Amino acid sequence: MTEYLNIIPGDEPHNDKVLAHCAGIIKGGGLVAFPTETVYGLGANVFDEKALLRIYEAKGRPCDNPLIVHIASVNELAVCVSALSESARLLMEAFWPGPLTMIFPKGPSIPLAATGKRGTVAVRCPAHPIARRLIQAAGTPVAAPSANISGRPSPTGADHVKQDLDGRVDAVLDGGPCPVGIESTIIDMTGEPRLLRPGFITKSTVENVLKHGISQSPATLDTPEAPGMRYAHYAPLAELIIVDGSAGKTVEYINNMCRESGLGAEKLGVFASDETADLYKNARVISAGSRAQPETIARSLFGALRRFDLWGAARVYSEAFYDTELGLSVMNRLEKASGYNIVKL
Ligand code: TXA
Ligand code: MG
Repeated sequence: MTEYLNIIPGDEPHNDKVLAHCAGIIKGGGLVAFPTETVYGLGANVFDEKALLRIYEAKGRPCDNPLIVHIASVNELAVCVSALSESARLLMEAFWPGPLTMIFPKGPSIPLAATGKRGTVAVRCPAHPIARRLIQAAGTPVAAPSANISGRPSPTGADHVKQDLDGRVDAVLDGGPCPVGIESTIIDMTGEPRLLRPGFITKSTVENVLKHGISQSPATLDTPEAPGMRYAHYAPLAELIIVDGSAGKTVEYINNMCRESGLGAEKLGVFASDETADLYKNARVISAGSRAQPETIARSLFGALRRFDLWGAARVYSEAFYDTELGLSVMNRLEKASGYNIVKL
C-alpha cells in the first residue's frame, strides 16, 4: 500500500507533521517519492543497502545504473566523496542548491549498491524547499533516482508518480508540479570537467563560471560515462517523430502526414509551440508554450508525453526546439524518447 501525503502551502504545522512522517519512513528503510525542482525523486537512506535494492526493484531499473545522492547542505558532502577539485568548489558555489549533479570519487562509506559498483558517486544539493526539509529531517543523505518506472518519461507531478509506482513504494509526497521539469545537468568532476547530461544549467553557464570550455559526451544511447544514458528512455507508448524544419514547412509536413496516415485525429498527437499550435489539423495538439520562453517547454515536456499516452495516441509528431541552449537540453530528452526518429526538412 502506498500512502499519499500532501504539502499544503502556508500550513506549516501540517507540513512539519507530514515531513516528519516521511522522514521516519526513510529512516526505517522505506521508499518515499518527493518533489525536487527538476523532477520527482524516489528517495531512500543511502546507507541502507536493502532500501537501495528496493529502489531498483520498484523502478525495474538495471542494477548497474547508479543513483544520485541528494544532500541538504554542503556539510554532508564530506561523507559522500573522497576528493573535491577546485573546479567542483566553484560550481558548487555558483549552482548549489540547484539542478546540478556532480560526479566525484566516492567516499568509503557510500555503498556500492548506490553507485552501480563504481568508484564514483553522483551528488546533488536540490533547491526545492520540500526536498531540502525532507533530507534534513531524515538526517541522512538520500539516494534518489527519478520516481518513474525505468524507461518511462520522468515524473514532473505526483500524479505521474502514482501512474508508475502505486503499490510499489511506501509514500508519495505531493508538493505540486516541478518548476524545472527536466532532470539535473550532470558533470563528471573526476577529471577534466565533462558534461554527461545537459539540463536547465547549460554548458555555457558552467563554462562562464569555470572560465574555460568543457567537453560533452555524445548524446547517443551507448555513451559509457553515464550508464543511465545507455538505456531506452522517456519512451511514450506512441510512435514519436521529431520534425526539424522552419515553422511553415514543419506545419505543412505534419498536416500532410496526419492526413495521409489513415489514422483518426484521436490517434494522432502534435507537440507544438504557442506560435503554431492553432495551425495543426486532424490531430490532438499540446502546446509546450512559447518559443520565447524555453523554460515553459522544459516544464511541459514529460507531462505532455504522458498525456498523449493517456489519450491513447498511436503516433505523435513533435516540433524541434534546437533554437536555444535550454531547447538543446529538451531535445536531448525528445531525441531519446523518439529513439532518434528525426525527420529533417
Ligand atoms: O534531476 C535529477 O537529477 C533527478 C532528481 C530526482 O534529482 N534525478 C535523476 O536521477 O534524474 P536518475 O537516476 O533518473 O538519473 C541519474 C543519472 C543516470 O543517467 C545515471 O547513470 C547517472 O545519473 N549517474 C549516477 N551516478 C553516476 C556515476 N557515478 N557516474 C556516471 N553517471 C552516474
Ligand atoms: Mg531517470
